[in-house]
Amino acid sequence: MANGLDDVVAADTVLSDVDGVGGHLTIRGHSLAELVGRWRYAQVVRLLFDGFFDDLPGDGELEKAIGEARVEVFERVKPMLAQLAPLDIYSGMRAGMTVLPDGDGLDDALRLIAAPAVLTPALLRLGRGETPIAPDAKADHAGDMLRMLAGSASPSLARALDSYLVTVCDHGLNASTFATRVVASTQAGLTSAILAGLGALKGPLHGGAPGPVIEMLDAIEASGDATAWLSNEIAHGERIMGFGHRIYRVRDPRADALKAVVRQLASRNETGSRLAFAETVEQAALEVLRIAKPQRSIQTNVEFYTALLLEAVGFPKEAFSNVFAAGRVAGWIAHAREQQATGRLIRPQSRYVGPVPDLVA
Ligand code: ACO
Repeated sequence: MANGLDDVVAADTVLSDVDGVGGHLTIRGHSLAELVGRWRYAQVVRLLFDGFFDDLPGDGELEKAIGEARVEVFERVKPMLAQLAPLDIYSGMRAGMTVLPDGDGLDDALRLIAAPAVLTPALLRLGRGETPIAPDAKADHAGDMLRMLAGSASPSLARALDSYLVTVCDHGLNASTFATRVVASTQAGLTSAILAGLGALKGPLHGGAPGPVIEMLDAIEASGDATAWLSNEIAHGERIMGFGHRIYRVRDPRADALKAVVRQLASRNETGSRLAFAETVEQAALEVLRIAKPQRSIQTNVEFYTALLLEAVGFPKEAFSNVFAAGRVAGWIAHAREQQATGRLIRPQSRYVGPVPDLVA
């Protein structure tokens, strides 16, 4: 039995391939390096959706349709925002998404793409005692997300966020994508499938790690000694957030893609000194992990530089997993459609190891 389903192949997919030995990520025939900084998020959504929706328009039209979906979602969720605001920001976003129609069409898919981008800034603003800002259907997706958060978005920050959304759009059969496919295999609608993915993404062993990365950096800065702080964590059986991966045995290629984006922002505000400090912590962590776990190659994963990038563009750490969901939702939808098309219910077996009832003669 594979506890954790290690090495089990549970789906054929045309969507993405994670090469954990070579350290490569392929998304529908394109390497990650080809896409990040060159393709906009809406183009990558189109790439992932191609063949899964009959009425999929071209790139420009799709960007417009996503903008219109942001406006539609905002109108739908506006009456309930005040009730969602007291929840933690991730639960508030997820609860807001439960009211979306549960169909399988492109309209349903676009509302799901729009929803995290609309709900996250609106709930953050309400939490700060500010009025939510309505979406602008004509703006680009990442730029509008920042505008809804802060009132304006500089082109460089919008580009950085767009690169982040592209970087995390899909990643093989990770826990949240698998959860999405299991629900889609029952022929439930897209909203039901995406809600399953959202649940799985929340945990710190998956998409919940980048917020704690910031807490770690702050604690190390306060302590003044990265190696001593990290060694103490390991001695207490804690995991170092932003390091390690089930599939990658080498450095996660997304870490370098995001680090390059943060470097481009480094002349801005405190991002440069934060990056230099994070690089020092990264080196210390790799060394501490090398000594503590010599049997395992534990390398930097996507979450370490996610934390720096999302901090630099202006999101608070409690909303980092929301922004991850805003990017990954495109991959989840495409996987859900791919799974539905197989017509095959995912239904593995368990091995019973509990007590056996007395047999009545
Ligand atoms: N810090 C300390 N020890 C670690 C870490 C880490 N970050 N990662 C793995 N290990 C250790 C484990 O404790 C275990 O040690 P042991 O054999 O002495 O018990 C050994 O390495 C193997 O651990 P597994 O859990 O089997 O490794 P797996 O590859 O399944 O874990 C995971 C992957 C869950 C991501 C793990 O590396 C981890 O917990 N990392 C920290 C959290 C994190 O960064 N999550 C984001 C992942 S990326 C993403 O999902 C988008």
